[in-house]
Amino acid sequence: MNLETLLAARLAAGFAAVAGEPVDPAVRASQHADFQSGAALALARRLGRPPRQVAAEVLAAADLSGLATAELSGPGFLNLTVDDAVLAAAYPLDPPPGAKERVVIDYSSPNVAKELHVGHLRSTIIGDALARLLEWAGHEVIRVNHLGDWGTQFGMLIEHMADLDGSYSLSDLTAFYRQARSRFDSDPEFRTRARLRVVALQSGDEATRAMWRRLVEQSQRSFVSDYERLGITLTVDDFTGESSYQDMLGPVVDELDAKGLLVESEGALCVFPAGFTGRDGEPLPLIVRKSDGGFGYAATDLAALRHRTRDLGATRLLYVVGAPQTQHFAMVFAVGRAAGWLPDGVTAEHIAFGSVLGPDGKVLKTRSGDTIKLVDLLDEADARASAPAVGIGAIKYADLAGDRRSDYVFDWDRMLATTGNTGPYLQYALARIRSLLAKADQAPGPVVLADPAERRLALTLLAFEPAVTAAIELREPHRLAVHLHELAVAFSTFYERCRPILGSPSRLALTARTGETLRLGLDLLGLPVPGEM
Ligand code: ARG
Repeated sequence: MNLETLLAARLAAGFAAVAGEPVDPAVRASQHADFQSGAALALARRLGRPPRQVAAEVLAAADLSGLATAELSGPGFLNLTVDDAVLAAAYPLDPPPGAKERVVIDYSSPNVAKELHVGHLRSTIIGDALARLLEWAGHEVIRVNHLGDWGTQFGMLIEHMADLDGSYSLSDLTAFYRQARSRFDSDPEFRTRARLRVVALQSGDEATRAMWRRLVEQSQRSFVSDYERLGITLTVDDFTGESSYQDMLGPVVDELDAKGLLVESEGALCVFPAGFTGRDGEPLPLIVRKSDGGFGYAATDLAALRHRTRDLGATRLLYVVGAPQTQHFAMVFAVGRAAGWLPDGVTAEHIAFGSVLGPDGKVLKTRSGDTIKLVDLLDEADARASAPAVGIGAIKYADLAGDRRSDYVFDWDRMLATTGNTGPYLQYALARIRSLLAKADQAPGPVVLADPAERRLALTLLAFEPAVTAAIELREPHRLAVHLHELAVAFSTFYERCRPILGSPSRLALTARTGETLRLGLDLLGLPVPGEM
């Protein structure tokens, strides 16, 4: 049930009659009425006629019966008030209609042998919310955790492992990584061995491979345990690391070459996609094969893109990765298009997001300046919140509540507050609704909108569908988060003004509808419900 669309459809007939052609009625929620259309003003300007007169003619030609009443206001606005009977009726919480696609969502995608840190938090939380939303909308979602499990850093890690000859622990991978790193930085002999080790790994040396596998598996276990704690739907089956594309890199080079896209530049094989230039105005290369013959991050992304559209048959690719990689993806997509791996009708989108900032306004770090491990963050959430679900809900909601492109400040006190636009506030609203309904000894009945707060709540309930549709289509979870907060606020006003709720079948029905909507909304954002974890 989408009131804006319904109202627009009815008004469109009126506008078309006056304009002689289709006009978008531009129906929007409004302070002055339930909804407002300002399209008569623009139309009047175009026709060179008095706007109030045009608006009046539109009204006369539109049939709003059974849906709303309209009033001419100000210079030519149409103020629309939805009929109470429409607001009072019950509607199913169905997913929006529309074509269903196969969508690959690349998210979380941390690097092996480094634990998840707060930098991965946003990709994980936003990506998971999008996966849930798109799946609910009926799309076939393929989750991909594009694990950084390949590359030169494995040389030093494996060499360090070999030196320790079995007497090492991988339970603290971050510490292990640091040790290997410091040897690599300070010991030239170790550095040489680490380089040779990379060659051994890439040429398939069995002992080296076995050690590599141990590192990757240990990392995966640590990622999965963080995901479970965070309520993230990624599983081991969704891990498709960079290593899995190694066999496709040769064919990628061959195809690019056959299409005449490859250029040799200082010993490296590059593609120069049209329209990308550096500061000096020189064309920018996407490096496919480095001068030492190795393949890097970009080559793997080209292979992955080709695999996702060609082999997996996806028609839409979403990459939930931070804003600093904007140019990388723009170039990968441009090369993909030039190579024919992104044919017409198949789209790739970089779902960029801003940084998590500390109280000092800089990227969030520990006091000593280190990156914050996700597991430490989760432990702190547990310690600060009354229940794990509340701490997790607070972290996730703080990440989803604002436009993803913006940075936000990580502030425990603000995100854990039970008032304001927070996860705990929504969870608390749902808990209150559930305990109310549990006490009711009467079935919910037909809704009667006597108090303005009841009417406001009913109207807000019907804003769920446009909000969730916007969240899905724009890949902006905050559209839904903002709506859920408005709904919880409308419920709280209703709860304060319209007592008693128990004993009123109408109010119980409004309460139950609010509970169902909040419940679905929290689920779609991946927010846990306390008492259910
Ligand atoms: N592992 C990368 C990083 O930590 C992110 C990978 C994102 N996905 C991709 N297909 N490039 O920066």
